[in-house]
Amino acid sequence: MSSNIKISPSILSADFSKLGEEIILLDKAGADYIHVDVMDGHFVPNITIGPEIIKKLRPVTKKVFDVHLMIKPVDKYIQSFAEAGADIITFHPEATPNTEETIKLIKKFDKKVGISLKPKSDINLVEKYLDKIDLILVMSVEPGFAGQKFMPEVLTKLKKLKEIVKNKKLDIDLEIDGGINFENSKIAVEAGANVLVSGSTIFKQNNGDLKKNIGLLRSS
Ligand code: DX5
Ligand code: ZN
Repeated sequence: MSSNIKISPSILSADFSKLGEEIILLDKAGADYIHVDVMDGHFVPNITIGPEIIKKLRPVTKKVFDVHLMIKPVDKYIQSFAEAGADIITFHPEATPNTEETIKLIKKFDKKVGISLKPKSDINLVEKYLDKIDLILVMSVEPGFAGQKFMPEVLTKLKKLKEIVKNKKLDIDLEIDGGINFENSKIAVEAGANVLVSGSTIFKQNNGDLKKNIGLLRSS
């Protein structure tokens, strides 16, 4: 049991007709972050929400908005997401011509920077920037949809990242995202994750008992 695990419920599995209320419930149920999946129908084959909705949701909670951008291009939208109230802005290196510039842009708005790696994306996409970022999001499904099956092969990558971060004594969150459930959360934590994203498990298991589900994941 690890007490420093953070839980970042993905609102992709929430009821979109009452997103504000759902976020208030997640807040009360003990979520650490609120994971917001932004998809553009181009970088990934699905479309979700944009900065205007995030701006409207911002006043309902003080929790960290953990915004996962699955959009390409990404740079021209950073300002809108920053101003909408994102706290952590995570992007995919494949979505920018210059990773370093995107990092700088996010920092210009005083936001925390995350880099996300798809299941097949190599560690070298992030390695050069480790001293400049706050979070690495390791995807354990192909980005695009909630409710997919966890890909255990990404744990090798997570372990390597954990090793590097530990050796360099860096303060970087290692977040895992996709298909996390009560069975695999423990191996994800053992592999080095300290932030668990979960959509389906938190919203659908145990008749949608958010508090119970968050608690069960936290005790991984
Ligand atoms: C997938 C998203 C995930 C997803 C998580 O592209 O990045 O955040 O919504 O949902 P589950 O936990 O159902 O896989
Ligand atoms: Zn996500």
